[in-house]
Amino acid sequence: MNQDQLKQAVGQAAVDYIRPHLDKDSIIGVGTGSTANCFIDALAALKHDFDGAVASSEASAQRLRDHGIEVYDLNQVGNLEFYIDGADEINARLEMIKGGGAALTREKIVAAVAKTFICVADASKEVDLLGDFPLPVEVIPMARSYVARELVKLGGDPVYREGVVTDNGNHILDVFNLRIDSPMELENRINQIVGVVTNGLFAQRAADVLLLSTPQGVQQRQ
Ligand code: 5RP
Repeated sequence: MNQDQLKQAVGQAAVDYIRPHLDKDSIIGVGTGSTANCFIDALAALKHDFDGAVASSEASAQRLRDHGIEVYDLNQVGNLEFYIDGADEINARLEMIKGGGAALTREKIVAAVAKTFICVADASKEVDLLGDFPLPVEVIPMARSYVARELVKLGGDPVYREGVVTDNGNHILDVFNLRIDSPMELENRINQIVGVVTNGLFAQRAADVLLLSTPQGVQQRQ
C-alpha cells in the first residue's frame, strides 16, 4: 500500500467510526490536509445522514461544498460531537504537531469546541518525541522578526514560510531543531510571546482517538 492508499483507508475508517453516532442534526468538525481530504471524500457518501460541517480552512470548506455538504460558520453552531483531522507528528500521548498546511489556528479552535478529536494519520506520522517536523507558529505579520528572535532564545531555528498567508491573513514561522520534551509547557511558552497567534503544538488539546493507518490495517489508539 502506498501513502495515498493508507490515507484513503484511514479516511474511510474515520467515517465508519462516526457513522453510528450521526443523526440528521449532526454537524461534524473537519480538518485540513491530504488525509482530511480523504475523510471528506469518504464522508460525501453519507451526506444525507447528517446536517453539515464546520471546516478548519477555506480549502476544506470548498471541498465539502463541492461534495454538496453544507458548511456552517462555527459561530452558528453550539457544539460538535467530532473533529476529524490529520497531524504532522503524533506521540503515544496523542499530542501532536500540526500546521503543515498552515491551518493550525482554525484547527485548534474547531478542536477546542469538539467533544471528541479523532486524529487520522498514516504510520509515518507516529513518533516517540515530537520535533523532527518543524513546529509551525502563526504570527501577526508585523511581529514576525520579533517573534523569530524570541524563538531563537528558546533554542529553535525559525524559518519564514515565504509566500504563505494563512486564512487569517497572518504569516507562518517554521521552527527547526526544537527539543520538545514537554509539549504542554512549550505550547504555553510560545503562545505567550506577543505577536504569536498560536503554535502547532496540540498538547493542551491532544487527540482523544488516533486512527493509524498501517499496511496491516487501521489501528485504533486512545
Ligand atoms: C494542516 C495540518 C494537517 O493536518 C497536517 O499538516 C497533516 O497533513 P497531511 O494529512 O496532508 O499529511 O495540520 O494545517
